[in-house]
Amino acid sequence: MSALSERPANPVVGLSMPHESAAGHVTGEALYTDDLVLRSHRVLHAHPVQAPHAHARITALRTEPAYDVPGVVRVLTAADVPGVNDAGVKHDEPLFPDEVMFHGHAVCWVLAETLEAARLGAAAVDVDYEPLPSLVTVREAIEADSFQGGQPHLERGDVGSAFDAAEHVFSGEFEFSGQEHFYLETHCSLAQVDENGQVFVQCSTQHPSETQEIVAHVLGLHSHEVTVQCLRMGGAFGGKEMQPHGYAAIAALGATLTGRPVRLRLNRTQDMTMSGKRHGFHARWRVGFDADGRFQALDATLTSDGGWSLDLSEPVLARALCHLDNSYWIPNVRANGRVAKTHKTSQTAFRGFGGPQGMLVIEDILGRCAPLLGIEPDELRARNLYRPGHTTPYGQPVGHPERLHAAWEQVLASGDFAARTQEIARFNAAHAHTKRGLAITPVKFGISFNLTAFNQAGALVHVYKDGSVLINHGGTEMGQGLHTKMTQVAATALGVPLAKVRLAPTRTDKVPNTSATAASSGADLNGAAIKNACEQIRERLAQVAATRLGVSPADVRFSDGEVHAVAFSGERVSWEEIVHAAYFQRVQLFAAAFYRTEDLHWDSSVMHGEPFKYFAYGVAASEVEVDGFTGANTLRRVDIVHDVGESLSPLIDIGQVEGAFVQGAGWLTLEDLRWDESDGPGRGRLLTQAASTYKLPSFSEMPAEFNVALLQHAPEEGAVYGSKAVGEPPLMLAFSVREALRQAVAAFGPAGTSVDLASPATPEAVWWAVQQARRSVEHGHVAEGSPGVVPDQPAADAHEYEPESERVQHQLSRT
Ligand code: MTE
Ligand code: MOS
Repeated sequence: MSALSERPANPVVGLSMPHESAAGHVTGEALYTDDLVLRSHRVLHAHPVQAPHAHARITALRTEPAYDVPGVVRVLTAADVPGVNDAGVKHDEPLFPDEVMFHGHAVCWVLAETLEAARLGAAAVDVDYEPLPSLVTVREAIEADSFQGGQPHLERGDVGSAFDAAEHVFSGEFEFSGQEHFYLETHCSLAQVDENGQVFVQCSTQHPSETQEIVAHVLGLHSHEVTVQCLRMGGAFGGKEMQPHGYAAIAALGATLTGRPVRLRLNRTQDMTMSGKRHGFHARWRVGFDADGRFQALDATLTSDGGWSLDLSEPVLARALCHLDNSYWIPNVRANGRVAKTHKTSQTAFRGFGGPQGMLVIEDILGRCAPLLGIEPDELRARNLYRPGHTTPYGQPVGHPERLHAAWEQVLASGDFAARTQEIARFNAAHAHTKRGLAITPVKFGISFNLTAFNQAGALVHVYKDGSVLINHGGTEMGQGLHTKMTQVAATALGVPLAKVRLAPTRTDKVPNTSATAASSGADLNGAAIKNACEQIRERLAQVAATRLGVSPADVRFSDGEVHAVAFSGERVSWEEIVHAAYFQRVQLFAAAFYRTEDLHWDSSVMHGEPFKYFAYGVAASEVEVDGFTGANTLRRVDIVHDVGESLSPLIDIGQVEGAFVQGAGWLTLEDLRWDESDGPGRGRLLTQAASTYKLPSFSEMPAEFNVALLQHAPEEGAVYGSKAVGEPPLMLAFSVREALRQAVAAFGPAGTSVDLASPATPEAVWWAVQQARRSVEHGHVAEGSPGVVPDQPAADAHEYEPESERVQHQLSRT
């Protein structure tokens, strides 16, 4: 056991705790950034002027009419920016653009005494646009050769010869949708400036340090003149990793110019039409199998739809390429990636960060090829799972593949997979218009930021004279339970009860130069830093206690608020007493600490190295039932075994697994982002702007039976107290739902039907797929011919929006 992963006796980590703010979340007492507005005086409200074109040049901008609206105080335009007019780190995101790059792009912002006055002021701003040609779909961008950023290439083995030698070769195309984050709390910032000119921005951000940097560069200030605080977020899911910066900068700019606090909170429709989403992708692939269905070669080109600017598109694409293998050994691989530049919101991080997109491609390939190979999908997947000694296509050894197999076997057993498969076959034989499917899929997800530099964190721990403990760390709380885990880590490292530890909100003036709380590594990085800070203090206290107890410092133990000598049943001194004594001996009772993940190396130019500290594994089996008349379907039962190492906080981890799974199922089966792709005046407009037209999972889509277990006896050597990251990996367990749908649809056709399923596999898309499967019965043939031919996707054009839902949408947009 490494010192980092080893647990002391009676650890507080590993206990099932509710989320530290659970009660506050449900009673409404937990404060979010926008709640602070009510506690501030003379706050101004910001409202954007959004462009009604996908692409246009701004030829004139007249702000005077806005000032005629009562309550309007100031209109912010590019001329007001004292520093850099850019909202990002790549310098391709003008904060106040002179060229509109997507429908809904904010051209300028109006500040007013009330939000309503700001809205009316924004409506009064007069803008002249010269519309320009636009690219709205990834296919249009590919045809127009419109790309941005680098075009990474990953290669292993001899792909050409492997295809020559392969028994079966298939090829195909697959285009799949992105996803709206739909965090409950939309983007929000509240900025103020104090009497010394110190700018203070409270912001719903996953990356306070970067928000601070961007605010500083927009204002032409240094970082030490800007403080960013994040109390907590009402969900972020990657959507607040890079996207909050520009909004924070607008609020801060407004505060510096008016001397008043400025609040900028997007309403739902603004958030959906202005902020970036999960990248949709287009994939073209060719795959070779041997006679037993073992992968021989894969050649794939992934094109992500990056939207108008880069923000995180390059690292998202890198992670997609690094997860194209999912959990499977593919000896020869060639993968190319590129980011399409389209006139849409700037697509960004979303739980899994490209990993889900890469993995979806290989799962789709397996799902489509299994019937063509004549191998059951579960058998085909099992045969190809990584085994000891294997390395990933980018050259990283696959650590502990036996844990993947253990999880697989456990799901087969606890999910009664074999018996249910037979039962489903009987059910399907007996029902012409209702079919069921049961599918099992694995997850392997690399933990660490691909960019090695981001794998660092800091913490600041204070022990006060009365023995109470206050911890600060660089991570942010977005509902994932990071703060709960961090208090458990501190209590464990100091050997005090949890009640002794309190956590202060994340602020850039407490812990500087932090990384985004992202890549699921919040607990790994900040936990290790907190543990280190606590250990520094504990070691100093051990000296004090050693003298008091008459033993050597190495023999002093801290446990449950008491200090005693190891294996010594005699004297126990309270924690408070030792702390008190230490203060009078002038021993430092606070510590700052730093952690960097060791042993990472990554050469992004050749996509080779060991970018991940370890892999998180998981396996899910899902059973669905599909109605052949409507495509409507239900998720009857889900069995999951997920690997979180030795859990820091089991209740939190199970919540993460459940939430991620449902969010993944939403992406794959319900949530249907649509843009106006017509040549009409609304071209490029996001059509699904509210919950009325964008269907999120709700209680009715929860699995009827949902069994989640954490893989036991799987401590992770390289991470804090033997735990593993959990935030993102379980999202990809939802592939099992999509594959179960595919199998249920296939049951409407003759044996061996290969089903091409759109993504998202909405009921409508499932219905079309059923039609296609049924057609193969009528025509009396199985689709063995040319699976490379992708059938048309009627679902893509046959979508209609009822005026009803438009109306609801408008109502929602007034909130
Ligand atoms: N869970 C909740 N409730 N809300 C969120 O916004 N974000 C996810 C995941 N779980 C999220 C969540 C994402 S995208 C990441 S990267 C991780 O949490 C980040 O937190 P961690 O690093 O502490 O796991
Ligand atoms: Mo998560 S997508 O890494 O914020």
